[in-house]
Amino acid sequence: MQNNNFQIDNSGIDPQTNFSDNPDFQSVLASRRSFLKGSLGAAIATIMGSALVGCSSDTAAPVTGPVAVKPEPAPILLGFTAIAANRLDTATVPAGYTARAFLPMGTPLLGSYPAYLVDGSNSGADMEQQVGAHHDGMHFFPLDARSTGQNSNEGLLVFNHEYLDANVLHPMGPTGLPRPADEVRKEVAAHGVTVAHIKKDAQGQFQLVQGSPLNRRITGATPMDITGPVRGDAKVVTKYSQDGTRTRGTLNNCGNGFTPWGTYLTCEENWAGYFMNADATKPREHSRYGVGSRNGRYYWETADSGADQFQRFNASSLGADASEDYRNEPNTYGWIVEIDPFNPDSVPQKRTALGRFGHEGIIFGPVVEGQPIIAYSGDDSTFEYIYKYVSKAPYYKATAGGHLLNDGTLYVAKFNADGSGEWLALDINNEELMTKANAANVTFDSQADILLNTRLAADIAGATKMDRPEWGAVHPTTGEVYFTLTNNTRRTTEQIDAANPRANNATGHIIRWKENAATSGLSFNWDIFLLAGDVGTTTEGSNITLTADNHLASPDGLMFSANGLLWIQTDMSGSQQGQGPYGNNQMLVADPATGMIKRFFVGPVDAEVTGLAFTPDLKTMFVNIQHPGDRSTPTQFTSNWPANDGTSRPRSATVIITKDDGGVIGS
Ligand code: FEO
Ligand code: CA
Ligand code: CA
Repeated sequence: MQNNNFQIDNSGIDPQTNFSDNPDFQSVLASRRSFLKGSLGAAIATIMGSALVGCSSDTAAPVTGPVAVKPEPAPILLGFTAIAANRLDTATVPAGYTARAFLPMGTPLLGSYPAYLVDGSNSGADMEQQVGAHHDGMHFFPLDARSTGQNSNEGLLVFNHEYLDANVLHPMGPTGLPRPADEVRKEVAAHGVTVAHIKKDAQGQFQLVQGSPLNRRITGATPMDITGPVRGDAKVVTKYSQDGTRTRGTLNNCGNGFTPWGTYLTCEENWAGYFMNADATKPREHSRYGVGSRNGRYYWETADSGADQFQRFNASSLGADASEDYRNEPNTYGWIVEIDPFNPDSVPQKRTALGRFGHEGIIFGPVVEGQPIIAYSGDDSTFEYIYKYVSKAPYYKATAGGHLLNDGTLYVAKFNADGSGEWLALDINNEELMTKANAANVTFDSQADILLNTRLAADIAGATKMDRPEWGAVHPTTGEVYFTLTNNTRRTTEQIDAANPRANNATGHIIRWKENAATSGLSFNWDIFLLAGDVGTTTEGSNITLTADNHLASPDGLMFSANGLLWIQTDMSGSQQGQGPYGNNQMLVADPATGMIKRFFVGPVDAEVTGLAFTPDLKTMFVNIQHPGDRSTPTQFTSNWPANDGTSRPRSATVIITKDDGGVIGS
């Protein structure tokens, strides 16, 4: 007997779970220093010129990495005319540019290449061989990444699939409860990552390479290794992996990253909502992350496949101990996952040393031979934190690989009101942290325990609660770090601080900092690069005042291209797009050296613009369009990019942008 009286709710993907009482800074009148302005320092090696080593190997042979090609002669940047905000159901680019949709959800990718069926009737097995749903973070790996890395004609386009709309995915939406097993199989397969081997055709247009052994789907069911300090811990023992070394799947893969050694990093963001735990008392590894009591977001735990593939989303204590049930399944989520895109047989590696939270994305600091690697990651939930990881071992191009992500120190950011900042070590050997934990009656008995409870450790350390940290970007020559804080309408006037200076922050801002070399990177200096908002909004430190050419809200995706331009993508809610003056979600480009910002791209109706990659020559840009169009019913699709035929199901897709004169994007 099926129960059709249930609702899948995608709106709860940003639960507030931080109710800790570590102080918000009261002083907003503190002197606002603009140290960063004009502080462009000595150029530091870019992260591009580095070795490539398979991620599951610690000792792979040295190879030469992708090299950022500096366009010659250097084009004048931001020479295009800014486009106006609009509410069109199309992808709008400036005059002189062309945009075309590529690899929409359902595109046949591998195996038997099952065709996409326009009525939504593809099976779960089909979806496992097709491009997934809700495209998000993305990277282009030149096919010659392991030699010169300058191939702009052929490579691997690797991108995330964050979540799904059941009305678009199934012929009549979700059928009812219990969820039919094949619907759930299809939904699990719609998540994860696509690796697409692409190559320019005779007309110079990128196409999928049919039959390439490099085409791959990683899904919410793909077997993965648990690596780093949490590997083998009792808290990750499950019926599937009784020694706590493996798990299945990656979910809610939002932003991304790529390593200096040429592997892809996918980030598990709002994974907690996929699980439920009906126990009377939940462990802190569940409660601080928002695992619910009643049902998972898509009720996957109700499906009976005859195996435990879906019951694992029920994290209640059902067996005699953890080795007989899935009470620990949620503990195997919340990590950064490393994927070697060049080895289709490689097992994805969950890198636990980087911490467990709602990872938006990950970005590496400048890579210096003989120095540790540095990576930054934001926890995108209301009042959560920004983190930094520093490897224990130094980076050497010849030996760089996944081992650098297995052993290191995780820090969390505290932004002081005077423009200084501190990195607080979340380390079992940090006596100050242990003293504070003791005072708070909190016990951590190992580094694995701290990492499993990263948010709690950060609460205790006294980190600064931010307005939803999204993507970070590192300037290719100065090493300055920029971070989007998308919005936070829950911040009250009493809760504002210097780094989050607006109550009811509906439009968000971009913060930036520079590491303080004198303290070996244990401190930094920061300012606010941009307060987003309507025309006339002014940011004091960087002296930027927004105009009709660049007003924006809810910045999210962020990336520096190798020529120093900062690309800013927005993720406004449907109501913010409908009510605001900003039009559809969009992408702007800023030159931090001059403060000039121009709107470069506007996405179709009701889509998020997210994920960004370039070919090495910077002449092809890939942008992802997530959840376009009207998904309110499974029967009538009134806005339906990219088909734009008035009836088809709208589909997430990549957009390829080129300049008609063959020039550098953004020139
Ligand atoms: Fe999935 Fe924080 O955006
Ligand atoms: Ca995002
Ligand atoms: Ca977002």
